[in-house]
Amino acid sequence: MPVQKGADIAPAKGKLGVLLVGLGAVSTTFIAGVEAIKQGLAEPIGSLTQMGTVRLGRRTDNRVPAIKDFVPLARLEDLVFGAWDIFPDSAFEAATHAGVLEKELLGQLRKPLQKIKPMKAVFDQNYVKRLSGTNVKKGKHKLQLAQQLIDEIADFKKKYKCDRLVMIWAASTEIFMKPHAVHRNLQSFEQAMRENHKAIPPSMIYAYAALKSGIPFANGAPNLTVDVPALMDLANEKGLAVCGKDFKTGQTLMKTILAPGLKSRMLGLHGWYSTNILGNRDGEVLDDPESFKTKEESKLSVLEYILQPDVYPQLYKDFSHVVRINYYPPRGDNKEGWDNIDIFGWLGYKMQIKIDFLCRDSILAAPIVLDLALFLDLAQRTGMKGVQEWLSFYFKSPMTAPTLYPEHDIFIQLMKLKNTLRHLRGEDLITHLGLEYYD
Ligand SMILES: NC(=O)c1ccc[n+]([C@@H]2O[C@H](COP(=O)([O-])OP(=O)(O)OC[C@H]3O[C@@H](n4cnc5c(N)ncnc54)[C@H](O)[C@@H]3O)[C@@H](O)[C@H]2O)c1
Repeated sequence: MPVQKGADIAPAKGKLGVLLVGLGAVSTTFIAGVEAIKQGLAEPIGSLTQMGTVRLGRRTDNRVPAIKDFVPLARLEDLVFGAWDIFPDSAFEAATHAGVLEKELLGQLRKPLQKIKPMKAVFDQNYVKRLSGTNVKKGKHKLQLAQQLIDEIADFKKKYKCDRLVMIWAASTEIFMKPHAVHRNLQSFEQAMRENHKAIPPSMIYAYAALKSGIPFANGAPNLTVDVPALMDLANEKGLAVCGKDFKTGQTLMKTILAPGLKSRMLGLHGWYSTNILGNRDGEVLDDPESFKTKEESKLSVLEYILQPDVYPQLYKDFSHVVRINYYPPRGDNKEGWDNIDIFGWLGYKMQIKIDFLCRDSILAAPIVLDLALFLDLAQRTGMKGVQEWLSFYFKSPMTAPTLYPEHDIFIQLMKLKNTLRHLRGEDLITHLGLEYYD
């Protein structure tokens, strides 16, 4: 049942526990950032929930509230963090190792970060070839591992007196997997867990544990994870919100900003060549061809959907799209992404665009984690269940209803997100028609 206009939204009272799978560069940059903002050391730059506004009514009405005043979101002061990782390092040590934030800033945040110690992970090296760690759970079969997670989640909620929880996958990218017959329904899925079937990677065990515990789930990596019928049925049955996949940062963010612009002017594309150098642990994991394949699929689909070669064959038929990621340790988290874009215009005349984006992956990802935690919690309090397509804005491979193609154009995604908020609050949607100003 779609949510009605002017829905009843339960207030955001009490603590919101944010459970992060993976306490690496993204998670620690997110947690440290929230702590820094709470202490008044920094501004929440890049976060729509903290800095964004939403226009209401006519352009002449001057009603432009901040999103966080317009819809009831959890306050940063009410967030509590928990995590799992295969390394036992605290959030302070992990953030120091990740090397994203300066030592001086981390020094000021040492106390809250040191308190966050990761719980033992559900991990299997068959799914992430380049990693091995010691902080790992043991269990006879995968269902038993899921039960351990479920127990831990309940303990965490009690210990930190959380009113509500959300879970976000920010752990390493697993190898490429296709949907399997055992994912078809919950019964076959649970049976497969009991039999330690290889079609059930750790990420699915976490997603299952979250949903069984009544917690909404977001997937920040391109793994299949929750995007299988068995788990989506479970989410719908339990009335839980779900979204994914793969945080939209860096090069793909640029692609979904630029490609709609080229298409809007009916400029053609011969080819788009993208390459990256990246030196963090994520880069190391993605150096494995099987993990890279998962990422590549996620990155490649974007242009096809935005440019619609079937609708505009003269402009976009058979364009060449290549994506490379090279692991280059000296760069750490400070990725460099190059794009060479071969376009053509009037009378077929060729032109080129070059982008050299010196970006910081986790700096771009951290505010996404914050927004997703707050919006997922909002969706949950509003009774929105299943795939949250309005959160496509944050993902490289947005999840959709099975019969729909994903919307990748970032401007359409943003309009959809804000219109969803207007709808929830019983306000008119903005169509940008604007004829009324000329009556
Ligand atoms: N940084 C970005 O801009 C960005 C964008 C899109 C997606 N992502 C994805 O987000 C994820 C995190 O990125 P990162 O840069 O923080 O990577 P990272 O390598 O710094 O952190 C990932 C952490 O996950 C842990 N881990 C791996 N498997 C685990 C498991 N089964 N259970 C618990 N912990 C596990 C690793 O030990 C590591 O500490 C990656 O999958 C990455 O591809 C990142």
